[in-house]
Amino acid sequence: MHLKDLKHVTSTRQLEDTEILDELYAITDDMERRDSRHDLNRASLRGRLLANVFYEPSTRTRFSFDAAMQKLGGRIIDTESAGHFSSVTKGETLEDTIRIIAGYADVIVLRHNVTGSAMRASSVSDVPVINAGDGTGEHPTQALLDMYTIKRELGRTDNYTLSMIGDLKHGRTIHSLLHLVSLYPNVKVNLASPEELKLPEEYKEYLMIKKIPFEEHFNIESILENSDVLYVTRIQKERFSSLEDYERVKGSYIINKESLWKMKKDAVIMHPLPRVDEISPEVDTDKRAAYFRQAKNGMYVRMALLQSLLKRKNGNENSY
Ligand code: CP
Repeated sequence: MHLKDLKHVTSTRQLEDTEILDELYAITDDMERRDSRHDLNRASLRGRLLANVFYEPSTRTRFSFDAAMQKLGGRIIDTESAGHFSSVTKGETLEDTIRIIAGYADVIVLRHNVTGSAMRASSVSDVPVINAGDGTGEHPTQALLDMYTIKRELGRTDNYTLSMIGDLKHGRTIHSLLHLVSLYPNVKVNLASPEELKLPEEYKEYLMIKKIPFEEHFNIESILENSDVLYVTRIQKERFSSLEDYERVKGSYIINKESLWKMKKDAVIMHPLPRVDEISPEVDTDKRAAYFRQAKNGMYVRMALLQSLLKRKNGNENSY
């Protein structure tokens, strides 16, 4: 499967092998290089319109899609808090909302609180729908930028130990990234979470089917020293039905200076962000802390993705 075969981006499971990733990351590298030389073709997506439709809050995803589109000369129409400020408040369905927006825009970036929404949206949309996070389901473009960050920071996408810690139950970035990880050989996975926030069975079964060795832990002490990539996630307060339940698990894991002493010298610390207290600010200046670079990579990966999804309409495949 190649980038040209991709219409919607709803789940990382659409990717059956690493070919698309190789293509996407080659374009991403070029975008980054050209941007640093102020040499981007700002006309390449001129006349194209992106609709950012967000039913849940966002900083990174919304702004980076916005920046990506504008850096390539495209424009944005945008609704934040779509559940409050769109005709959804009058009872309009997601499907009707998407049909209408697809008539105005060339690509729709959708964040929604309900799992499966992006898939529903894509089934009625004439233009590409990009899943920017659907409830506790998936966040495929985050996973694309996470894998790109692993490649850049670690220098490889195979032969490493990945430790994922925090809220593995609700963490849609975890769900999407696990599939991309499974496309490469010799990756071992550690999963560390409180009992209530363990990775759901369906994803564990998937890892077994893909023959990815994994271990579950409650304590992170034993995995810090073996991790090549430490992927830290926030305990997601907004997903709990009661504050009491959240308070019970909040602050379960904190990466701080003491953690750094135990970790490999060339390990990579990632986080999809936002963080609350799970990585202490004292870690930020350590060279292993990759999470701000990771967020910036997101803009270049999204530039590459938008260019690839929209270039067929432009008929100009090398115009970036
Ligand atoms: N990582 C991520 O999805 O961040 P935002 O919620 O700020 O978009």
